[in-house]
Amino acid sequence: MPAELVRLSGGPSDHEALARAGEVIRRGGLVVFPTETVYGLGAHALDADAVAKIFDAKGRPAGDPVIVHLATAADVMTVSASVPESARLLTSAFWPGPLTVILARGSAVPLGVTAGGDTVGVRVPAHPVALALLRAAGVPIVAPSANRFSRPSPTTADDVVEDLGDRVDMILDGGATTHGVESTVVDCTGAVPVVLRPGAITMEALRRVMPEINLRTTVVRDTTAVLAAPGTLLKHYAPRAEVRLWTGGDSLRSAVRHDLEQQVAAGRRVGVLLVDEDRDLTIGLPVEAVSLGSLARLDEAAARLFAALRALDRLNVDVIVVRDLGRVGLGLTIWDRLYRAAEGRVLESI
Ligand code: TXA
Ligand code: MG
Repeated sequence: MPAELVRLSGGPSDHEALARAGEVIRRGGLVVFPTETVYGLGAHALDADAVAKIFDAKGRPAGDPVIVHLATAADVMTVSASVPESARLLTSAFWPGPLTVILARGSAVPLGVTAGGDTVGVRVPAHPVALALLRAAGVPIVAPSANRFSRPSPTTADDVVEDLGDRVDMILDGGATTHGVESTVVDCTGAVPVVLRPGAITMEALRRVMPEINLRTTVVRDTTAVLAAPGTLLKHYAPRAEVRLWTGGDSLRSAVRHDLEQQVAAGRRVGVLLVDEDRDLTIGLPVEAVSLGSLARLDEAAARLFAALRALDRLNVDVIVVRDLGRVGLGLTIWDRLYRAAEGRVLESI
C-alpha cells in the first residue's frame, strides 16, 4: 500500500500530522522523516518487531546496526548506562546535530538495533521536524537513511517515495535536507575516539574539541562480513551506473577530459559530476553534466552529492565520471561517499 505523504508547512497545522506520526511510531509502524543530514526511516527503537520491519523495508543485511535518535541529550541514559568523558565532550559540542556516538548498549535496547553487538549508535538530530516527531512519539526512534540498501541516501521526500513509497506507513515531507550527507559516526568506547564514518561534521571540527581522535580507514568488500566491523561496507551509496572516480595531481583535469572522450567514443551514455571550475572539460562533448557548485563551497557540493547521483541515474547514463575534490574538511566526507559509490575502484592520473 502506498504510504501517506504529508507535506509539512512549518505552521500550526503540522501539529496534528506530527501527533499522528508519533502514534504510528508508538504502535510499531514506520515513519520517514527529514533530519538535517538525510531522510531517516524511523521506528520505535525499543520495540524489536518494529526494528525488524526497518531491515525488511530497506533490504538491509541484519549485520549492519542502526542509529538511535533521541529528543534530548538527557535521554541518553535510556539507551546506554555509561557515557565516557570523550562522548560527553563531543556531544555537548555538537548536539543537537549531525554527530553519532557509539556507546555501550543499554539493556533496554533490542539486539536487532545493534546487530547483536554490545554497542549502540546514538544521536540527537537538529531538524525541527525530527525533534517534533521524537517528542510526539515519546520514545527513542531508530532511523537508518530512508533509501533501499546500497542506494544513495535520500535528501528529498521524492527520493524516499522512489525507494520506499510502498513499504512504509507515513512520509513526512519537510523539504530538502541541509547537509545532504549523513552524520559523522564516532566510536567513543575505546581510550581514543575513532571516526568510523566521516560525515557532516569534519575531522577538523572534531579535533578542535578533542585533539586526539583517529580515523578508521579500512573497508570491507563482502556484505556477509559487515558484522565484524559495522559501517565499513564498501558497496554503499551506489547509483545504478558505473562510477569512474578520478584522483591525481596536476594531470587530473586532462585525465578526466580524456576519459570523457573515450567513454563517449565507446558509445556509452556518459554522465559527469562537475564542479563549476571544471565546466570547460565537457565542451563539445555529448555528456549529461550535473554541477556540484564551486570547489570553494564544499558544503554545497556535499548537499548536492546524493541528489546529483540520483539525477544522473534517472537520465539512464551508463557511467558517471567524477573527480576527487580533495580531502580537507567536507572533501574527506565527499571522497568517502564517492569511493563507496565507485565500489573502491579509483582511477589515478599520472
Ligand atoms: O545522518 C545520519 O546518521 C542518518 C540520519 C537518518 O540520522 N542515518 C544514517 O543511518 O545514516 P544509517 O543506518 O544509514 O547509517 C548508520 C551508520 C552505519 O554505517 C552503521 O554501520 C553505523 O552507523 N553504526 C550504527 N550503529 C553502530 C554501532 N553500534 N557500531 C558501529 N557502527 C554503527
Ligand atoms: Mg545509510
